[in-house]
Amino acid sequence: MYAQMVETGVKQVKALDDMSPEERVFQEKIDAEIKIEPKNWMPDAYRKTLIRQVSQHAHSEIVGMLPEGNWVTRAPTLKRKLQLMAKIQDEAGHGLYLYSAMETLGADRDEEVEKLHSGRAKYSSIFNYPTLNWADMGAVGWLVDGAAIVNQVVLQRTSYGPYSRAMIRICKEESFHQRQGYEILLTMMRQGNDAQKAMVQDAINRLWWPALMMFGPSDADSPNSAQSMAWKIKRHTNDELRQRFIDQTVPQLEILGCSAPDPDLKWNAERGHYDFGEIQWDEFFDVIKGNGPCNRERLETRRNAISDGTWVRRAAVAHANKKKQRAAA
Ligand code: 3HC
Repeated sequence: MYAQMVETGVKQVKALDDMSPEERVFQEKIDAEIKIEPKNWMPDAYRKTLIRQVSQHAHSEIVGMLPEGNWVTRAPTLKRKLQLMAKIQDEAGHGLYLYSAMETLGADRDEEVEKLHSGRAKYSSIFNYPTLNWADMGAVGWLVDGAAIVNQVVLQRTSYGPYSRAMIRICKEESFHQRQGYEILLTMMRQGNDAQKAMVQDAINRLWWPALMMFGPSDADSPNSAQSMAWKIKRHTNDELRQRFIDQTVPQLEILGCSAPDPDLKWNAERGHYDFGEIQWDEFFDVIKGNGPCNRERLETRRNAISDGTWVRRAAVAHANKKKQRAAA
Protein backbone atom coordinates (compact mmCIF):
# COMPACT_ATOMS: atom_id res chain seq x y z
CA MET A 1 0.00 0.00 0.00
CA TYR A 2 2.72 2.45 0.98
CA ALA A 3 4.71 1.84 -2.21
CA GLN A 4 1.52 2.36 -4.21
CA MET A 5 0.89 5.64 -2.36
CA VAL A 6 4.35 6.86 -3.24
CA GLU A 7 3.66 5.97 -6.89
CA THR A 8 0.22 7.58 -6.92
CA GLY A 9 2.02 10.67 -5.64
CA VAL A 10 -0.63 11.67 -3.10
CA LYS A 11 2.46 13.38 -1.88
CA GLN A 12 5.70 12.67 -3.72
CA VAL A 13 8.51 11.36 -1.53
CA LYS A 14 12.00 12.51 -2.49
CA ALA A 15 14.07 9.71 -4.04
CA LEU A 16 17.52 9.07 -2.53
CA ASP A 17 19.27 10.38 -5.69
CA ASP A 18 17.49 13.75 -5.33
CA MET A 19 18.55 14.19 -1.71
CA SER A 20 21.33 16.44 -0.45
CA PRO A 21 24.22 14.60 1.31
CA GLU A 22 22.74 15.63 4.71
CA GLU A 23 19.28 14.38 3.75
CA ARG A 24 20.78 11.10 2.58
CA VAL A 25 22.64 10.59 5.89
CA PHE A 26 19.42 11.45 7.73
CA GLN A 27 17.39 8.94 5.69
CA GLU A 28 20.03 6.25 6.27
CA LYS A 29 19.67 6.84 10.05
CA ILE A 30 15.88 6.50 9.73
CA ASP A 31 16.25 3.30 7.68
CA ALA A 32 18.72 1.94 10.26
CA GLU A 33 16.09 2.51 13.00
CA ILE A 34 18.27 5.10 14.77
CA LYS A 35 16.06 7.45 16.78
CA ILE A 36 16.26 11.12 15.83
CA GLU A 37 16.95 13.30 18.87
CA PRO A 38 16.34 17.04 19.33
CA LYS A 39 20.00 17.98 18.84
CA ASN A 40 20.37 15.92 15.61
CA TRP A 41 20.26 17.55 12.18
CA MET A 42 16.87 17.01 10.54
CA PRO A 43 15.22 18.27 7.34
CA ASP A 44 13.04 21.34 8.00
CA ALA A 45 10.10 19.42 6.53
CA TYR A 46 10.60 16.59 9.06
CA ARG A 47 10.60 19.11 11.90
CA LYS A 48 7.58 20.90 10.45
CA THR A 49 5.42 17.82 9.96
CA LEU A 50 6.28 16.57 13.45
CA ILE A 51 5.32 19.91 15.02
CA ARG A 52 2.09 19.70 13.02
CA GLN A 53 1.27 16.14 14.14
CA VAL A 54 2.51 16.30 17.75
CA SER A 55 0.85 19.66 18.46
CA GLN A 56 -2.46 18.40 17.05
CA HIS A 57 -2.08 15.20 19.03
CA ALA A 58 -1.59 17.29 22.19
CA HIS A 59 -4.59 19.47 21.31
CA SER A 60 -6.65 16.29 20.89
CA GLU A 61 -5.75 15.15 24.39
CA ILE A 62 -6.71 18.48 25.96
CA VAL A 63 -9.93 18.95 23.98
CA GLY A 64 -10.62 15.24 24.54
CA MET A 65 -11.11 16.04 28.26
CA LEU A 66 -14.21 18.12 27.52
CA PRO A 67 -16.79 15.54 26.38
CA GLU A 68 -16.09 13.52 29.53
CA GLY A 69 -15.76 16.53 31.84
CA ASN A 70 -19.48 16.99 31.19
CA TRP A 71 -20.27 13.80 33.07
CA VAL A 72 -18.11 13.91 36.23
CA THR A 73 -20.89 15.48 38.32
CA ARG A 74 -23.46 13.07 36.85
CA ALA A 75 -21.58 9.77 37.18
CA PRO A 76 -23.94 7.08 38.56
CA THR A 77 -21.64 5.93 41.38
CA LEU A 78 -18.63 7.18 43.33
CA LYS A 79 -16.50 4.46 41.68
CA ARG A 80 -17.50 5.65 38.18
CA LYS A 81 -16.87 9.27 39.20
CA LEU A 82 -13.37 8.42 40.44
CA GLN A 83 -12.58 6.41 37.28
CA LEU A 84 -13.76 9.27 35.05
CA MET A 85 -11.80 11.88 37.02
CA ALA A 86 -8.67 9.72 36.82
CA LYS A 87 -9.11 9.32 33.07
CA ILE A 88 -9.61 13.06 32.52
CA GLN A 89 -6.52 13.84 34.60
CA ASP A 90 -4.58 11.29 32.50
CA GLU A 91 -5.63 13.07 29.30
CA ALA A 92 -4.35 16.37 30.69
CA GLY A 93 -1.04 14.68 31.48
CA HIS A 94 -0.88 13.18 27.99
CA GLY A 95 -1.36 16.66 26.56
CA LEU A 96 1.50 17.99 28.70
CA TYR A 97 3.87 15.18 27.67
CA LEU A 98 3.07 15.87 24.03
CA TYR A 99 3.41 19.66 24.27
CA SER A 100 6.81 19.05 25.93
CA ALA A 101 7.83 16.67 23.12
CA MET A 102 6.68 19.31 20.62
CA GLU A 103 8.78 22.01 22.34
CA THR A 104 11.95 19.91 21.82
CA LEU A 105 11.39 20.64 18.10
CA GLY A 106 11.63 24.36 18.78
CA ALA A 107 7.88 25.06 18.71
CA ASP A 108 6.41 27.56 21.17
CA ARG A 109 3.61 26.09 23.31
CA ASP A 110 1.65 29.34 23.68
CA GLU A 111 1.78 29.93 19.91
CA GLU A 112 0.54 26.41 19.13
CA VAL A 113 -2.26 26.65 21.73
CA GLU A 114 -3.25 30.03 20.25
CA LYS A 115 -3.52 28.32 16.81
CA LEU A 116 -5.93 25.81 18.40
CA HIS A 117 -8.03 28.53 19.99
CA SER A 118 -8.19 30.57 16.81
CA GLY A 119 -9.30 27.53 14.81
CA ARG A 120 -6.03 27.37 12.81
CA ALA A 121 -4.92 24.01 14.26
CA LYS A 122 -6.74 20.70 14.17
CA TYR A 123 -7.60 18.28 16.93
CA SER A 124 -9.23 14.88 16.59
CA SER A 125 -12.57 15.08 14.79
CA ILE A 126 -14.21 12.70 17.26
CA PHE A 127 -14.28 15.32 19.99
CA ASN A 128 -16.71 17.43 18.00
CA TYR A 129 -19.53 15.00 18.69
CA PRO A 130 -21.76 15.40 21.76
CA THR A 131 -21.86 13.00 24.73
CA LEU A 132 -25.58 12.73 25.47
CA ASN A 133 -25.81 10.16 28.29
CA TRP A 134 -23.81 7.84 30.53
CA ALA A 135 -23.62 5.11 27.87
CA ASP A 136 -21.60 7.60 25.80
CA MET A 137 -18.95 7.59 28.54
CA GLY A 138 -18.61 3.85 27.99
CA ALA A 139 -18.61 4.14 24.21
CA VAL A 140 -16.04 6.97 24.29
CA GLY A 141 -13.70 4.94 26.50
CA TRP A 142 -14.16 1.73 24.50
CA LEU A 143 -14.30 3.10 20.92
CA VAL A 144 -12.41 6.43 21.06
CA ASP A 145 -9.64 5.36 23.41
CA GLY A 146 -9.66 1.96 21.71
CA ALA A 147 -9.00 3.65 18.35
CA ALA A 148 -6.42 5.95 19.95
CA ILE A 149 -4.61 2.90 21.37
CA VAL A 150 -4.38 1.22 17.96
CA ASN A 151 -2.81 4.39 16.59
CA GLN A 152 -0.66 5.20 19.61
CA VAL A 153 0.78 1.70 20.20
CA VAL A 154 2.34 1.98 16.75
CA LEU A 155 3.54 5.53 17.46
CA GLN A 156 5.70 4.13 20.27
CA ARG A 157 8.08 3.20 17.41
CA THR A 158 7.97 6.59 15.70
CA SER A 159 11.39 7.80 14.54
CA TYR A 160 11.47 10.95 16.69
CA GLY A 161 12.84 10.03 20.15
CA PRO A 162 10.89 12.38 22.47
CA TYR A 163 7.58 11.54 20.70
CA SER A 164 8.25 7.80 20.88
CA ARG A 165 9.09 7.97 24.61
CA ALA A 166 5.99 10.07 25.36
CA MET A 167 3.89 7.43 23.58
CA ILE A 168 5.30 4.57 25.66
CA ARG A 169 4.15 6.34 28.83
CA ILE A 170 0.77 7.33 27.36
CA CYS A 171 -0.07 3.85 26.09
CA LYS A 172 0.23 2.37 29.58
CA GLU A 173 -2.57 4.66 30.80
CA GLU A 174 -4.66 4.48 27.60
CA SER A 175 -5.40 0.76 28.06
CA PHE A 176 -7.06 1.53 31.43
CA HIS A 177 -9.23 4.12 29.62
CA GLN A 178 -10.42 1.59 27.07
CA ARG A 179 -11.08 -1.13 29.68
CA GLN A 180 -13.12 1.11 31.97
CA GLY A 181 -15.23 2.23 29.01
CA TYR A 182 -15.94 -1.33 27.92
CA GLU A 183 -16.78 -2.32 31.51
CA ILE A 184 -19.37 0.48 31.71
CA LEU A 185 -21.08 -0.90 28.59
CA LEU A 186 -20.84 -4.53 29.74
CA THR A 187 -22.41 -3.58 33.09
CA MET A 188 -25.27 -1.78 31.36
CA MET A 189 -25.84 -4.67 28.96
CA ARG A 190 -25.62 -7.37 31.63
CA GLN A 191 -27.35 -5.63 34.55
CA GLY A 192 -29.24 -2.79 32.92
CA ASN A 193 -32.92 -2.58 32.04
CA ASP A 194 -34.18 -2.42 28.45
CA ALA A 195 -33.90 1.36 28.36
CA GLN A 196 -30.25 1.22 29.47
CA LYS A 197 -29.48 -1.48 26.91
CA ALA A 198 -31.06 0.72 24.24
CA MET A 199 -28.84 3.63 25.42
CA VAL A 200 -25.74 1.47 24.79
CA GLN A 201 -26.82 0.54 21.27
CA ASP A 202 -27.71 4.18 20.55
CA ALA A 203 -24.28 5.36 21.76
CA ILE A 204 -22.58 2.82 19.49
CA ASN A 205 -24.79 3.87 16.58
CA ARG A 206 -23.71 7.51 17.02
CA LEU A 207 -20.01 7.01 17.71
CA TRP A 208 -19.08 4.03 15.50
CA TRP A 209 -18.43 5.87 12.24
CA PRO A 210 -16.80 8.96 13.87
CA ALA A 211 -14.43 6.54 15.64
CA LEU A 212 -13.41 5.05 12.27
CA MET A 213 -12.78 8.57 10.98
CA MET A 214 -10.24 9.14 13.78
CA PHE A 215 -7.66 7.26 11.70
CA GLY A 216 -7.73 10.01 9.10
CA PRO A 217 -8.75 10.10 5.44
CA SER A 218 -8.32 7.07 3.20
CA ASP A 219 -4.74 6.44 2.12
CA ALA A 220 -5.48 7.71 -1.37
CA ASP A 221 -6.55 11.07 0.12
CA SER A 222 -3.85 11.41 2.77
CA PRO A 223 -1.37 14.13 1.73
CA ASN A 224 1.00 13.49 4.66
CA SER A 225 1.15 9.70 4.87
CA ALA A 226 3.66 8.85 2.15
CA GLN A 227 6.36 11.16 3.52
CA SER A 228 5.53 10.31 7.14
CA MET A 229 5.93 6.63 6.28
CA ALA A 230 9.26 7.28 4.53
CA TRP A 231 10.49 9.07 7.66
CA LYS A 232 8.95 6.34 9.90
CA ILE A 233 6.92 8.95 11.76
CA LYS A 234 4.08 6.66 10.78
CA ARG A 235 4.65 2.92 10.64
CA HIS A 236 1.29 2.01 9.14
CA THR A 237 -1.10 3.84 6.88
CA ASN A 238 -4.48 5.24 7.99
CA ASP A 239 -6.42 2.44 6.28
CA GLU A 240 -4.20 -0.29 7.74
CA LEU A 241 -4.77 0.96 11.31
CA ARG A 242 -8.50 1.51 10.70
CA GLN A 243 -8.80 -2.10 9.53
CA ARG A 244 -6.83 -3.31 12.57
CA PHE A 245 -9.21 -1.42 14.87
CA ILE A 246 -12.32 -2.88 13.20
CA ASP A 247 -10.93 -6.43 13.27
CA GLN A 248 -10.26 -6.24 17.01
CA THR A 249 -13.44 -4.35 17.93
CA VAL A 250 -16.15 -6.40 16.19
CA PRO A 251 -15.66 -9.47 18.46
CA GLN A 252 -15.99 -7.15 21.50
CA LEU A 253 -19.19 -5.77 19.99
CA GLU A 254 -20.56 -9.32 19.75
CA ILE A 255 -19.70 -10.03 23.41
CA LEU A 256 -21.68 -6.90 24.31
CA GLY A 257 -24.63 -8.28 22.35
CA CYS A 258 -24.74 -5.12 20.23
CA SER A 259 -24.37 -4.40 16.53
CA ALA A 260 -22.56 -1.77 14.46
CA PRO A 261 -24.59 0.68 12.33
CA ASP A 262 -23.09 -0.88 9.20
CA PRO A 263 -25.03 -3.52 7.20
CA ASP A 264 -21.90 -4.19 5.12
CA LEU A 265 -19.81 -5.19 8.15
CA LYS A 266 -19.00 -8.87 7.76
CA TRP A 267 -16.05 -11.23 8.06
CA ASN A 268 -14.23 -11.85 4.78
CA ALA A 269 -12.41 -15.18 5.22
CA GLU A 270 -10.49 -14.65 2.01
CA ARG A 271 -9.06 -11.32 3.15
CA GLY A 272 -8.81 -12.37 6.79
CA HIS A 273 -10.42 -9.07 7.73
CA TYR A 274 -13.88 -7.57 8.21
CA ASP A 275 -15.36 -5.86 5.17
CA PHE A 276 -17.15 -2.64 6.09
CA GLY A 277 -19.30 0.01 4.47
CA GLU A 278 -18.36 3.32 2.86
CA ILE A 279 -17.25 6.05 5.31
CA GLN A 280 -19.07 9.37 4.82
CA TRP A 281 -15.97 11.42 4.01
CA ASP A 282 -18.01 14.56 3.38
CA GLU A 283 -18.99 14.46 7.05
CA PHE A 284 -15.34 13.98 8.11
CA PHE A 285 -14.02 16.89 6.06
CA ASP A 286 -16.93 19.07 7.19
CA VAL A 287 -16.17 18.34 10.85
CA ILE A 288 -12.44 19.06 10.50
CA LYS A 289 -13.33 22.28 8.68
CA GLY A 290 -15.07 23.37 11.89
CA ASN A 291 -18.68 22.47 11.10
CA GLY A 292 -19.15 19.53 13.47
CA PRO A 293 -21.94 19.46 16.11
CA CYS A 294 -19.67 20.73 18.91
CA ASN A 295 -16.68 22.49 17.29
CA ARG A 296 -17.71 26.00 18.37
CA GLU A 297 -18.63 24.89 21.92
CA ARG A 298 -15.33 23.02 22.38
CA LEU A 299 -13.16 25.95 21.29
CA GLU A 300 -15.17 28.42 23.36
CA THR A 301 -14.74 26.20 26.44
CA ARG A 302 -11.01 26.04 25.77
CA ARG A 303 -10.73 29.81 25.34
CA ASN A 304 -12.67 30.42 28.55
CA ALA A 305 -10.48 27.91 30.41
CA ILE A 306 -7.36 29.80 29.33
CA SER A 307 -8.72 33.22 30.35
CA ASP A 308 -10.30 31.96 33.61
CA GLY A 309 -6.99 30.30 34.51
CA THR A 310 -4.78 33.37 33.90
CA TRP A 311 -4.64 34.24 37.62
CA VAL A 312 -3.55 30.66 38.47
CA ARG A 313 -0.70 30.80 35.96
CA ARG A 314 0.34 34.27 37.18
CA ALA A 315 0.34 33.09 40.83
CA ALA A 316 2.35 29.96 39.95
CA VAL A 317 4.97 32.03 38.07
CA ALA A 318 5.17 34.60 40.91
CA HIS A 319 5.59 31.78 43.45
CA ALA A 320 8.30 30.12 41.34
CA ASN A 321 10.16 33.44 40.93
CA LYS A 322 9.95 34.10 44.69
CA LYS A 323 11.42 30.65 45.39
CA LYS A 324 14.22 31.32 42.87
CA GLN A 325 15.00 34.72 44.49
CA ARG A 326 15.09 33.12 47.98
CA ALA A 327 17.39 30.36 46.71
CA ALA A 328 19.68 32.93 45.05
CA ALA A 329 19.78 35.17 48.16
N1 3HC B 1 -9.29 14.69 13.12
C1 3HC B 1 -8.84 15.90 12.69
N2 3HC B 1 -7.98 16.04 11.65
C2 3HC B 1 -7.54 14.92 11.06
C3 3HC B 1 -7.95 13.63 11.46
C4 3HC B 1 -8.86 13.55 12.54
N3 3HC B 1 -9.31 12.38 12.99
N4 3HC B 1 -7.32 12.71 10.67
C5 3HC B 1 -6.57 13.41 9.80
N5 3HC B 1 -6.71 14.72 10.03
C6 3HC B 1 -6.09 15.82 9.28
C7 3HC B 1 -4.58 15.77 9.37
O1 3HC B 1 -4.12 16.47 10.51
C8 3HC B 1 -4.20 16.46 8.06
O2 3HC B 1 -4.38 17.86 8.20
P1 3HC B 1 -3.08 18.82 8.37
O3 3HC B 1 -2.14 18.48 7.23
O4 3HC B 1 -3.65 20.20 8.32
O5 3HC B 1 -2.50 18.47 9.73
C9 3HC B 1 -5.30 16.00 7.10
O6 3HC B 1 -6.40 15.61 7.90
C10 3HC B 1 -4.87 14.85 6.20
O7 3HC B 1 -4.63 13.72 7.01
P2 3HC B 1 -3.30 12.85 6.83
O8 3HC B 1 -3.67 11.43 6.96
O9 3HC B 1 -2.56 13.27 5.61
O10 3HC B 1 -2.47 13.37 8.10
P3 3HC B 1 -1.49 12.54 9.04
O11 3HC B 1 -0.47 11.83 8.23
O12 3HC B 1 -1.03 13.49 10.06
O13 3HC B 1 -2.42 11.41 9.72
C11 3HC B 1 -3.29 11.05 11.94
C12 3HC B 1 -3.47 11.78 10.59
C13 3HC B 1 -3.42 9.55 11.71
C14 3HC B 1 -4.37 11.55 12.93
C15 3HC B 1 -1.88 11.38 12.45
O14 3HC B 1 -1.75 12.78 12.51
C16 3HC B 1 -1.61 10.81 13.84
O15 3HC B 1 -1.35 9.63 13.99
N6 3HC B 1 -1.65 11.69 14.86
C17 3HC B 1 -1.28 11.26 16.21
C18 3HC B 1 -2.41 10.56 16.90
C19 3HC B 1 -3.56 11.51 17.16
O16 3HC B 1 -3.51 12.67 16.96
N7 3HC B 1 -4.66 10.95 17.63
C20 3HC B 1 -5.82 11.78 17.89
C21 3HC B 1 -6.60 11.21 18.96
S1 3HC B 1 -5.77 11.35 20.49
C22 3HC B 1 -6.91 10.75 21.51
O17 3HC B 1 -7.94 10.33 21.13
C23 3HC B 1 -6.52 10.74 22.92
C24 3HC B 1 -7.42 9.90 23.76
O18 3HC B 1 -6.77 9.68 24.98
C25 3HC B 1 -8.71 10.56 24.06
